[in-house]
Amino acid sequence: MTATGPAPGSVALVTGGTGGFGRALAALLRVRDVTVVLADLDSDANRRAADDLGASFAALDVTDRAANAAVVARIEADHGRLDAAFLNAGIAGTSPDVLDVDELLEVVDVDLFGVVYGTEAVLPALRRAGGGSIVVTASLAGLSPMATDPGYSVAKGGAVAFVRSLGPRLAGEGITISAICPGFADTAIIDPLRAEFDAAGFPVLTAGEVAEALVAAWAGAEPGAAYVVQPGVGAVPYRFKGVPAARTASGETAVVPDALRPPSMR
Ligand SMILES: NC(=O)c1ccc[n+]([C@@H]2O[C@H](COP(=O)([O-])OP(=O)(O)OC[C@H]3O[C@@H](n4cnc5c(N)ncnc54)[C@H](O)[C@@H]3O)[C@@H](O)[C@H]2O)c1
Repeated sequence: MTATGPAPGSVALVTGGTGGFGRALAALLRVRDVTVVLADLDSDANRRAADDLGASFAALDVTDRAANAAVVARIEADHGRLDAAFLNAGIAGTSPDVLDVDELLEVVDVDLFGVVYGTEAVLPALRRAGGGSIVVTASLAGLSPMATDPGYSVAKGGAVAFVRSLGPRLAGEGITISAICPGFADTAIIDPLRAEFDAAGFPVLTAGEVAEALVAAWAGAEPGAAYVVQPGVGAVPYRFKGVPAARTASGETAVVPDALRPPSMR
């Protein structure tokens, strides 16, 4: 990523905004003179957390499609524009079962459909602003599935695929969508695993390290790219291996029809 940073005076939405990454991100954005709206589940503690960070709070359950649009409408009414959306809300599964379908559906609803609905809601506002960025907090689990959490793996893998799918066409509109895929990081979401990490001496990221990668993605990500963030490694682009191309009857590489590719990929 080749970022210099977001322009001062920009307006950013952060979903899951009062959690570990959201708070670290808000702090970084505030020192860059960005107006930050932290959207999260409604509670006094979440409202206070936003207040303490000098950010506005928007009550939002990301699984509520209409509520995503309402939050964006309010941001445009209050601040006049929206330049970036960090679609960051997420939960992990905790079931000990090999497959707990109720839990899987719940995790996919938040971690994947929350991203889909968030993208749907912010796109018109980013277009009205003349372009902008969507940064999705996916996970390393979206690239290397977690054996203990199929719902999380499906949701994060789906989020990465969603970003890769939309990247080229949105780039044509001046909108960059990208995914950040952190390894384990020191926030509340790893509380159930923390003792295991400590006992094994396993390194975890700080929320600040992930927030730096999220900010860098706003200003400098490649459209549709996924960036891995790991302790001791930093943020690096993940290089996807291609798939074998179809062959024609005469053995030549078959060219995908134009209708399936945006102009930039023809
Ligand atoms: N911490 C890690 O190890 C790690 C690693 C990779 C990816 N992630 C991802 O990073 C993102 C942020 O997580 P975090 O580490 O800051 O954890 P966190 O638990 O501190 O924050 C998650 C936030 O999402 C909010 N949230 C949950 N469900 C919501 C809903 N339906 N609508 C709106 N908000 C909702 C929570 O209230 C919380 O504030 C998540 O998407 C998570 O999956 C975390």
